[in-house]
Amino acid sequence: MTQLWGGRFTGQADELLRKLNDSIGFDIRLYNEDIDGSIAWAKGLVGANVLTQDEADQICAGLEKVRKELADDTFELAAGDEDIHTAVERRLTEIVGSVGGKLHTGRSRNDQSATDFRLWVKRASKHIAAEIAALGHAMINHAEKHIETPMPGYTHLQHAQPVTWGHWLLGHFWPLVRDLERFKAVHNQADEMVLGSAAFAGTAFPVDREALAKDLGFSRITQNSLDGVSNRDYVADFLYASTMTGLHLSRLAEQLILFSSTEFSFVVIADAYSTGSSIMPQKKNPDTLELTRGKSGRILGDLTGFLATIKGLPSTYDKDLQEDKEPVFDAFDNLSLLLPVMTGVIDTITINPDKMASQLEAGLLATDLADYLVKKNLPFRQAHHVVGQIVQLGEVRNIPITDLSLEDLQEISDLFEEDVIEAFSVKGALAARNATGGTAPEAVKKQIVEARKALS
Ligand code: ARG
Repeated sequence: MTQLWGGRFTGQADELLRKLNDSIGFDIRLYNEDIDGSIAWAKGLVGANVLTQDEADQICAGLEKVRKELADDTFELAAGDEDIHTAVERRLTEIVGSVGGKLHTGRSRNDQSATDFRLWVKRASKHIAAEIAALGHAMINHAEKHIETPMPGYTHLQHAQPVTWGHWLLGHFWPLVRDLERFKAVHNQADEMVLGSAAFAGTAFPVDREALAKDLGFSRITQNSLDGVSNRDYVADFLYASTMTGLHLSRLAEQLILFSSTEFSFVVIADAYSTGSSIMPQKKNPDTLELTRGKSGRILGDLTGFLATIKGLPSTYDKDLQEDKEPVFDAFDNLSLLLPVMTGVIDTITINPDKMASQLEAGLLATDLADYLVKKNLPFRQAHHVVGQIVQLGEVRNIPITDLSLEDLQEISDLFEEDVIEAFSVKGALAARNATGGTAPEAVKKQIVEARKALS
């Protein structure tokens, strides 16, 4: 077998070295990008007078043949195909003859691999962003139907104040907008063309790098060849953005799991996204949501593992950098599955407004009672104390505070009057929170307009 680099070797590579060294098992996923990069490079070599137009045409036609074989799954790997760059060049040369051997002039697999991966990460970022946006739209559409559906709101997982289901769900929407921003930033980080850096010192042939960048759809070119071949910041950025998205999905999943438990019964996850138990016939388990929570952990692992890999690397190319692809593919594959699954879950979820309403106990309105006293000019700190005493009285008598009589209330503060009954209304409590971002139906309507804008 012949490696691209075989010239100075007399001994054969050990089988285990091959196993450790080869990346074809995963970087074959970059074949389209690799061929795009090679076609652009062939054109660049014409400009640099390394190839005649006719030679470049032969090479490009050959590369398209190789692409077709890979796409049709008729491409046969040869023993020496250690990575996608080697495999494509080897097959190209079989197809077009020795002119194929001219393609690698002035370039290296180091700048090739970085270029391929940047192209791939750019496309991947766009794909993930589209999936995030689709989930965002599903959430908005669902929330819109429930801007007047009250439920208990929680802090510390304890009853706090009433909110609406629509407002609650949108609380999980805005993190996705930040995720979109992050993937846009990843795209921008990846959008720099490395070709022309060669192994690390720069190409020795007068290839027009700006033209090459344009041809490949990069907005700019790298300014330092050493950094060019070793920069993997965009990889870390992709993994961080993926981790944050996974984390957001995980938190939403966790809460839906809780809300679908028998004790809550606020939501029912559709059969299509649930599984049963092999022993307990009554069970319906939220496995999709649990796997969302679980897989977000491995995406976080992809990030931390990769950061550990690059932490101590000297500048330019080191083979450690080949470890950049698998974590990215893993994060991408998992997110590409988790996002549409969550979209499906939201599209098909059933909610139980009666169960939510049944949990709206009087304590949730304690803040509104304090606000009532504030409107009677009592400083809030004192009002808080007064209502605390009322809550205590309710506990002593073992009744909800809404069942205390006006006389009971007046014994604690003479500011209470007949109209206090209005402070004890969930509808009133919701409507009062009308500042931008609040849970009042009017405010949520405006929020939804902004949410749609954020996705457009
Ligand atoms: N398969 C390698 C990678 O993904 C290509 C670069 C190989 N360069 C080298 N000097 N061995 O990074």
